[in-house]
Amino acid sequence: MNKKAVIEVKDLVTSYDDKIVLDMISFSTYEEEIFAVLGGSGCGKTTLLRHLLGLIKPDAGLISILDYDITKANDDEMQPLREQIGMVFQGSALFNSMTLAENVSLPLEEYTDYPSRVIRDIVDWKLHIVGLDHARDYLPSELSGGMKKRAAIARAMVMDPKLLFFDEHTTGLDPVMAAELDRIIVRLRDELNITVVVVTHDLTSIRRISDRAIMIADTHIIASGSIKEMEQSGDSRVINFFMQHDMEE
Ligand SMILES: Nc1ncnc2c1ncn2[C@@H]1O[C@H](COP(=O)(O)OP(=O)(O)O)[C@@H](O)[C@H]1O
Ligand SMILES: [Mg+2]
Repeated sequence: MNKKAVIEVKDLVTSYDDKIVLDMISFSTYEEEIFAVLGGSGCGKTTLLRHLLGLIKPDAGLISILDYDITKANDDEMQPLREQIGMVFQGSALFNSMTLAENVSLPLEEYTDYPSRVIRDIVDWKLHIVGLDHARDYLPSELSGGMKKRAAIARAMVMDPKLLFFDEHTTGLDPVMAAELDRIIVRLRDELNITVVVVTHDLTSIRRISDRAIMIADTHIIASGSIKEMEQSGDSRVINFFMQHDMEE
């Protein structure tokens, strides 16, 4: 099987002020894969996502996404690539004064010249994909936590991205909602052939959906591969991560 790498990170080094957060991080993510970045709170997961979005520049190293060297690109050059990437933030980041449909249509209003009828059709289709057909005219305050997350996915999908990034997608959700969100993520990958990167400390979710993962601790990747392969690791930090999280469940 010859899968193409859609994300390649090589020897990434990044710091805030003088503190190194990620040191010599290298990995590849292949097309149509659900790839997880695991690690405890504060290990640098969100920082890594910000790099993949080109929001911050590394101290050293290379990041290439869809064959595009983003470490060299300026903001204008990043724009076409940003349209290929959907991002679901940790909070759902919906505008409270706008209906669900208006929230989801925002990227289309901003980045396309589509007539409003077309925008309406696209928005309704994306809301359908995440099972929110009935809620298009609701305000965010009228939605449950799980519905907000699904709305955020619909918005992230609205430009038909090739890549979808999630930051702690199950945080704040009860187990039933978390499982439902995981099912939606797998379905998006299966039916729309997108590549998914999820950043999380939720082992239950990762066991359910990820094909491969990396685990970060002490600024380095301390384990990588399938979850089964990771569990064979002799590194005490990896063993502790699995023990601690399995006990929580
Ligand atoms: N804007 C920032 N300025 C300074 N330090 C930061 C900033 N953002 C994050 N950090 C620090 O960098 C480390 C990694 O943070 P983060 O990437 O948010 O971790 P995670 O998402 O894994 O919890 C933490 O020690 C955090 O305090
Ligand atoms: Mg984080």
